[in-house]
Amino acid sequence: MSTPLSNKFYEEMKKLESRYPNKKALILPALHQAQKEYGWLPKESLAAVAEYIGVHEAQIREVASFYTMYNLKPVGKMHLKICTNVACCLRGADELMGFAEKKLEIECGETTKDGLFTLSEEECLGACTAAPAMMANDDYVEELDIHKLNAYIEKIKEGGVRS
Ligand code: FES
Repeated sequence: MSTPLSNKFYEEMKKLESRYPNKKALILPALHQAQKEYGWLPKESLAAVAEYIGVHEAQIREVASFYTMYNLKPVGKMHLKICTNVACCLRGADELMGFAEKKLEIECGETTKDGLFTLSEEECLGACTAAPAMMANDDYVEELDIHKLNAYIEKIKEGGVRS
C-alpha cells in the first residue's frame, strides 16, 4: 500500500519505538507526527498510521476524534484555539471569542478565506492559573486580553509567527 506519510514520519517514529512498550502505545505520538505532514489528518493518513501501528483504521479514527488537538478537516496556517471553559470564561473568554470572530470576519469553527486563520473553541487547556488562555498552533498564549489578542493576530498577519 502506498502511504501519504513521508520518510520523516517513519524516521521519527523509529526514534520513539524503543521508548514505548509496544506500538499501540505510540498512537498519540504517531498522530501528532502524521498531523505535522499536512496540518491535519486526511483519511489516508489515518489509514497509514493504522497500518504502521498494526490496528484497524477505525481504532485510529476513534482516538483522533476523541482529542481536540487532532484536526480531522483542513485548518488554517494558524489555528487559534480559545479556551472558553470556566476559569477562562470568568475572565472574559467569551468577549475574546467575540472579538476574534469580528476581527477575523469568521465564526468560531471557520477558516478565513485566505486560509491563514482557523478559530476554534477549546475546553480547558490546562492553563487555568493564567486564564484566559489560547493556543496558537502548538504555542500557549496566556493572560490574554483584547489588546494582546489583537496584537497577536496582527503579528501573524505580518508573517511574524509560525509554530
Ligand atoms: S479553563 Fe481555560 S485553561 Fe483551564
